[in-house]
Amino acid sequence: MAGCGRSRPRGRPIARLLLLHGPNLSQLGVRDPATYGSQDLAAVVDHARATATELGHDLADEQHEAEADLVRRIHTARTDGTDAILLNAGAFTHYSYALRDALAILDLPKVEVHLSNIHGRERFRHTSVIAAVCDGSVAGFGIDGYGLAVRAADAVLRRG
Ligand code: DQA
Repeated sequence: MAGCGRSRPRGRPIARLLLLHGPNLSQLGVRDPATYGSQDLAAVVDHARATATELGHDLADEQHEAEADLVRRIHTARTDGTDAILLNAGAFTHYSYALRDALAILDLPKVEVHLSNIHGRERFRHTSVIAAVCDGSVAGFGIDGYGLAVRAADAVLRRG
């Protein structure tokens, strides 16, 4: 974490958070609003960023439809100054061992986030193959879950 000066809550170093979104999350707002809410991806990211800013952190974000792009971005996070990752991997959550392996390589705080409660939906969504290589998961709280996920990342960072 960088430690240099700008307005932030006292005693907290600035962290660079990376929020990654996987496939079909680009379609938020039009995609099944009863499940995912009516806000688009930009609003979701703004919500996460507002919490990051409140805690004195920076938040970058990317969305990728392709598994390979997500894997590459996770690799890059090892050396580009990223301090923690928040990830909504979309459907890849449930079957991408490639994403799981990429996350396992990365020795940073990692928070899994989902808009919907994946455990209350179709059986195939009950399994997250990435959960075990993340510090924890937030699911089922819609856009508010992103604020919770940022706070979780902040807590893991402060724990050291
Ligand atoms: C999701 C849940 C996944 O099962 C689904 O494939 C998504 C969105 C969520 O945010 O609730 O794309 O990750």
